[in-house]
Amino acid sequence: MAKPSFEQDSQPKEQRAMAVSVLPVEPPLTPTLKELKSDESEHIDIGEIMEELAFADGKTSVATKPIRLQNRNQLNDLTGKEWIQETNSVWFQKGLGKNHVHAKIEQQHPAPFSFQDIGRLICFFTKQGNKVLDPFCGVASTLKACAVTAREGIGIELISKWAELGQQRLREEVPITLSALPQQIIVGDARVELTKLKSESFDYVVTSPPYWQILAKKPDHKAKRERLSYGYATKYSDSELDLGNITDYQTFLHELGICFKECYRLLRKGKYASIIVSDFRHNSTYQTFHIDVIRIMESHGFKLKGITVLVQNSKSLYPYGYPYAYVPNIHHQYILNFEKPTGEKKGKNDSAKAD
Ligand SMILES: C[S@@+](CC[C@H](N)C(=O)[O-])C[C@H]1O[C@@H](n2cnc3c(N)ncnc32)[C@H](O)[C@@H]1O
Repeated sequence: MAKPSFEQDSQPKEQRAMAVSVLPVEPPLTPTLKELKSDESEHIDIGEIMEELAFADGKTSVATKPIRLQNRNQLNDLTGKEWIQETNSVWFQKGLGKNHVHAKIEQQHPAPFSFQDIGRLICFFTKQGNKVLDPFCGVASTLKACAVTAREGIGIELISKWAELGQQRLREEVPITLSALPQQIIVGDARVELTKLKSESFDYVVTSPPYWQILAKKPDHKAKRERLSYGYATKYSDSELDLGNITDYQTFLHELGICFKECYRLLRKGKYASIIVSDFRHNSTYQTFHIDVIRIMESHGFKLKGITVLVQNSKSLYPYGYPYAYVPNIHHQYILNFEKPTGEKKGKNDSAKAD
């Protein structure tokens, strides 16, 4: 790992620092002093460093000074401190709570994600005014997050019931003052609708696809207690175009791959795509779905940049397997973060250098 340089060029030779200790900074967030000096008019502070100075007469002194990054942030509108917080590889799911008035519509869908979690992703991977795509948009959680963070969103949803609830959500849950940028829901099959959109016209793709057939099986104790007793649907639809109704797992992965390939075409180079999935059980098999999604995304050119574990700590525990066998309660999802490579040679500050 490259050590940061803290040469004190402007000081007299005899007073120049000879020993420097730096805590607790990790490259590539640490700029060299030269970089800091090149444009001090535009900078952001991300913390402080301790600097021990040793002088020619044998005396030493310790000073603190701010760690400054040039504000060359091309990715998002966050400050340095906010940026670093979001790179924590564990997030705890945030929801409105099931009794919140704005949770009423999303609850009708069998598997919505929290618009607050998606809002965090959108704020990290885009700037205001950028364009976001969700090819499996359900009840429009992504578009709601786009609306409240001033991004433009386009979502595709096969089932008109979910699309209509999504529209209702945008009308009723987004304050009028935040509705400046357009949010569009296209009703149709993502495999078809994605092909109609313009290449390299999106700044970010974020989605949660169907998890194969997990909702198609006979409602278990959990589904009965948490869905049927409230009159809520336990699956997306009975449509044969619904990817959640494909019976063969490999065929399902193939069809999902058709959508991901299109997402790659639609995304601008150097931009990111986040796929939110969970592993699941099918009969007695533990299906490592997140690994299969990584493999498909990579086969279409995406580069995996990191995984955030999203902890779902408000879910109820069920006694699966008890008292005979180990069967986990799966209470986390994976946010798989990919980049569409630029194809250009990496610069000296590229994060790949610090890997
Ligand atoms: C995991 S849910 C997405 C939920 C969404 N993130 C939300 O918060 O509402 C997956 C969605 O994909 C939709 N879907 C299934 N097959 C599809 C297809 N071929 N084209 C487009 N959408 C499809 C389902 O109807 C379902 O709403």
